[in-house]
This record gives sequence, structure tokens and C-alpha cells, in this order.
Amino acid sequence: MATTQSKSSESANITVLLEEKQVYKPSPAFAKSAHVKSFSALQSLRRQALKSPEKFWDKAARDLDWIKPWKKTLEWKPPFAKWFVGGKLNLSANCLDRHLDGPRRNKAALIWEGEPGEVRTLTYLQLHYEVCRFANALKHLGVRSGERVCIYMPMVPEAAIAMLACARIGAVHSVVFGGFSAESLRDRIHDAQAKIVVTADGGWRRGAVVKLKDAVDEALKDCKSVEHVVVLKRTGQEIGWTQGRDHWWNEAVAGQSAVCPPEPLDSEHPLFILYTSGSTGKPKGVLHTTGGYLVQAALTTKWVFDLREDDTFWCTADVGWVTGHTYVVYGPLANGATSLMYEGGPLHPTPDRFWSMIARHRVSVFYTAPTAIRTFMRLGPEYPKRHDLTSLRLLGTVGEPINPEAWRWYRTVIGGQRCPIVDTWWQTETGGILITPLPGATPTKPGSATLPFPGIDADVVDKQGKPVPPGSGGFLVIRKPWPGMLRTIHGDPERYKSQYFSQIPGIYFTGDGARKDKDGYFWVLGRIDDVLNVAGHRLSTMEIESALVSHPSVAESAVVARPDEMLGQAVVAFVTLQKSASPSPELKEELRGHVAKMIGPIAKPAEIRFTDSLPKTRSGKIMRRLLREVAAGQGVRGDVTTLEDFAVLAKLQQSEDE
Ligand code: WTA
Repeated sequence: MATTQSKSSESANITVLLEEKQVYKPSPAFAKSAHVKSFSALQSLRRQALKSPEKFWDKAARDLDWIKPWKKTLEWKPPFAKWFVGGKLNLSANCLDRHLDGPRRNKAALIWEGEPGEVRTLTYLQLHYEVCRFANALKHLGVRSGERVCIYMPMVPEAAIAMLACARIGAVHSVVFGGFSAESLRDRIHDAQAKIVVTADGGWRRGAVVKLKDAVDEALKDCKSVEHVVVLKRTGQEIGWTQGRDHWWNEAVAGQSAVCPPEPLDSEHPLFILYTSGSTGKPKGVLHTTGGYLVQAALTTKWVFDLREDDTFWCTADVGWVTGHTYVVYGPLANGATSLMYEGGPLHPTPDRFWSMIARHRVSVFYTAPTAIRTFMRLGPEYPKRHDLTSLRLLGTVGEPINPEAWRWYRTVIGGQRCPIVDTWWQTETGGILITPLPGATPTKPGSATLPFPGIDADVVDKQGKPVPPGSGGFLVIRKPWPGMLRTIHGDPERYKSQYFSQIPGIYFTGDGARKDKDGYFWVLGRIDDVLNVAGHRLSTMEIESALVSHPSVAESAVVARPDEMLGQAVVAFVTLQKSASPSPELKEELRGHVAKMIGPIAKPAEIRFTDSLPKTRSGKIMRRLLREVAAGQGVRGDVTTLEDFAVLAKLQQSEDE
């Protein structure tokens, strides 16, 4: 794979080695029926919206059902924003009830496929019925508006039902990815002070059972806030049971009424907390609220994916990540679309699982991660070629920069040269897509997320906040507030301020490096802080380091990323052992397993390297740049036990301190 960008992350000097020259224009046939039909129409929308973002978003908000209209579109007391102030609405009513009076009533809202192969379809009417009953079950268990519900589920319709049920009664959901360990789950339950945990006995992943309930039992040993656990029966293996605390899902909803009026909620009522990695310490509980988030989710889904009434939309993300929140559940359902949901592994039982699903469900819009595309590319075109993919009309990517080679493979092999590709840039914090092509309007360049969505004031700036010239690297920032932005870090407004608004006062700092080319196109280069992006998932070096140090044999550790063909970045951990421990291949394996246990298998280091000391500056800061260089080079890889001696290198690099 050709690497097209390189970066030096201690400074904002990001050198771009290769510029993509090729431009792909939207086909006239696609453009003709698109929501936004031409580049000039898009540019005029963007210009007007930049001049008056509030007017633009005000208009967008009118597409939703409001119980009470808002008085003020935006109240901005930097860095705190309130959108659609005074307005009242209910998100689940916008995703369900409003589709029940017309022809969408019996339209498929969710089509779900389990890993073992079963398929379930829930129409809008059926989904509404299930959501109302589960909402009443939550109320019966004592959940009140504003209280937190932790959802730790496999990718099953009940995960979406639980989310929508919370939204219906004003409870705040915190979905924790089912791949996280008991320890990570415990920290998140504790931070949110969740009252209820909704889980399943297990979920299917690559033919094996992920034992979710066991992890919940383990986590709850230390979580006093949790009063009840609702357990969906999915995999059927034996599980532990705590009488009085645990309830089967089917028993909890049995006898519950299907009438549950949607709670009229303030536009700024908290909707969900979603934990994401930050550059320091523990995960941050990113808090989103109701009205603004839904406006952003609904409009971006409609325009970026150019939704049509007869689309079958498949976003492959898990609901445990923000992409699953916005583009599996809320965005598609707010638009009355059909959203496909899949439980299991992409290569199970054979590497053509995705292509077989696209063919069987006649998927028309497909949204996935570059890491998946690179995996499919390596497996070869014979797997997609086995299936009829002609139902596809639009492709999307998210999560990390896509290399032009993978982009072109995606376009040719999956999209049959006819489907536009939308490379969408956004973050857990942004709630929805911010930088993206619109498929009927924007000429695309492989590897570029192209231009900001209308109403989004993005720029690339230096440390002082001054725009950098075209072609130069800098910090990606968003100058003005937008409806879907996070409102705070749950329980920690100071961290919210310092994390996002202190680099350049009053302006949102994304943590990403980027450059703009002469056409104003954005090329996102990746994180510039200590956050890794492994297979499209954000991991904090600090978190992995503290997991390692919690092992009795480890004295100190430093975690960095090295470029990886498949994953984007791979985790490399430099480890100094306690005097009592000696380096061995077995210990390496044990440490990798330890990280998986403490955080989850996604955080497992690809490589562990023992060293007798870590290179540090005179003030004691670990010289990460040096370690990154060592990790990226061939070095001593292969020799599993050698201690690496950084003493000489460290002396050479001491000037970094000054
Ligand atoms: C990266 C996922 C380049 C970026 C929605 C961002 C991207 C982080 C792209 C957010 C893209 C996401 N091109 N980089 N199209 N999309 N990223 O919070 O570094 O899991 O800051 O949200 O992923 O990851 P998160």
C-alpha cells in the first residue's frame, strides 16, 4: 500500500508527500435526482449558510416535528451552546410516531440479520410497538427522565429499541460497545452513575459467543448505582443470575402497555452520553442533547447519503460507536428510511458475507470503514464478484483517512465504477458528519473528505489560530457552533473547555491535523495528540499505558502507533519491567492479554517491546516522537526478548526539551 502522507505530530508541520490529482465528477444521471443537484447549488448553499448559519439550521429544524416551537435558534456563550432554545420535541416520536399516519406505517424500519443467518424485519409500526412497551418496562423499573441507562448489547434490534425507549421517556442512554471488557464497562457505568443496565446473555461474533452478561456481573461488583439489569436472551448459554436485580427482557415487557406517550422534552434535554478516548487519562463522556443532535443527524443523512424513499441503507458500524448512533439508528429513522443492521463479523462464515448481504437485501447505500475496505481489498475481488452488487448506488466511508488506492478499489470493484463515494469526516463530539462530499454535487478526489457541509465553518490553522496557506498542514478547527456539537463532558465542564476550546480560545479544536488544497478541499491527516486510530476506533495511549502498568511485572510503559496496512495504525507498547520480572515471549503474550482484559481486544498491542529504560527529556517527558520513529522502522523487530537501549538516542535528542 502506498502511503501518501507523512506527519510530524509534535509540531503542526505536516508534510504532504503526494497530492492526488484525479477528480471524479458526479454523473449527470445521479445529479439529476439528487437532493443537491450541482456544485454551484452546493457552493451557493454553503456561502449563504456561512453568512448566516443560524438561518440555515433554523430552516433544517423545521423538517422535524416539534411539540413546542423554539424561541431562539442559538444561544452561544462560548464554549457552551444551546440550540433551538425553548423548543420541545421528542426524538423517538420523530423517528417513529410521525411515520405512522402515512404509507410508511408498514415500511421496514429495521432489517436485521444475525450472524448465524436469521433475518428479522421490524416495520415502523412494529418498532413503535416494541419501543413503547420497553419504555413502559423501563418506567416500571423506576427509570425517570434524566436518569442514565447503560446499554451493553450485541448488534440486535433490541439495542435500537432500548435507545429509542430511553429517548421516549427522557432517560439518557450510554451505549457501551459490546467488545469492551468488564473493567471498561465498570468505569463507564460508574462515571455515568447508571441506574439500569440493559444487556444480553451474549452476542455472536465470528462463530463464538461474546459473554456479555458475565462481563456485566463482573462490572457490577463495584457499581452501587445500578438497581436493575435487563437481559435479552440471545445466545442461550448458562449465565449467572441475581434475584431481584436481574430481569429477562421478555418478562420485563410482558404485560406492558403499548401506549406510551412521548415525553415532551426540552431541545437541550440530554439524549446520550458516549465515552470516547481522549489524550489524557480516562475516557470522556461526550454529552449530546436532543434537538440540535437530531437536526444534524437527520439533515446529514438525507443529503450526504442522498436518501430516497426506496433505499435500503446499510451502515456497518456497531451501535456502540457514534456512527451506529447517528447512521444506523437516529438519522435513517428520522428520515423514515429502511436501515439494515448486522450482528456479526464481516468475514463470517466466509469472506463474502457483506457482499452476500448486499445482494440478498438489495442494499442501495453502503457505509463502512476504510480498514474494512483494505481487508476486502487484500482478500481479492473474487469474493465481491460472486454476488450481484448492482443494487448499490452510493458508497461511503468514515473513521480514518482512506488511502487513494483503497478508494479506487472500492469504486471499481464494489461500486462498479458507477457509485459515487462519500468520504465523510466527523467525530463522536460532532454528532454528525461535518466535512463531506454531497454525492450529486461535489467533484471528489480520492483521499479527501472534500468540503465542509453547509453551515459548518471549518478551517486549517496554525498554533495562533491563523489560517495556513493552501497546501500547508495545520490544525483542523471548527470556528462556529453547529447543532450536533457535544454540549460538555459529562460531569466535567472544565475538561470540555480545556480539551476542545483552549488551544485556540473560543474555537473548537478537533485534535486532527489537516491541510486544504488550492481548491479548498480538506485532506485530514489524522490525530495530532496522543490518540491512536486503530481500525477506525479511537484509543488513548494513556489508557493502554495505565492498563500495562497495572500488571505486576510492569514498571513503566509508553504506547505509540505505527502505520499499519490493514488497521491504519497499530499499537506498539514499549515496556520497562520490574526488577523481579524477566523478559520472555510468554510475558509478552500475557501483557497483550492483560490489555485485552482491562480495556477490550481492540486495544491489544500488536507489538510489545521490552526496554531497560524509556527515552525521556530532561523534564521527564517521554520522547514519543522518537519512539514512534523506532516503532515505524524495522529496528530490532523479530527478536522478542532483546532489551532496547535508548540511552544514546536519548542524549542525542535532549534538545527537544528546550
Ligand atoms: C478520524 C468517528 C479522516 C479523525 C465518526 C477523527 C477521519 C476521528 C475520518 C473521530 C475521515 C473520522 N477521514 N479521518 N473521513 N472520519 N476520522 O470519534 O481522526 O470514533 O478525529 O468518530 O476519526 O473518531 P470517532
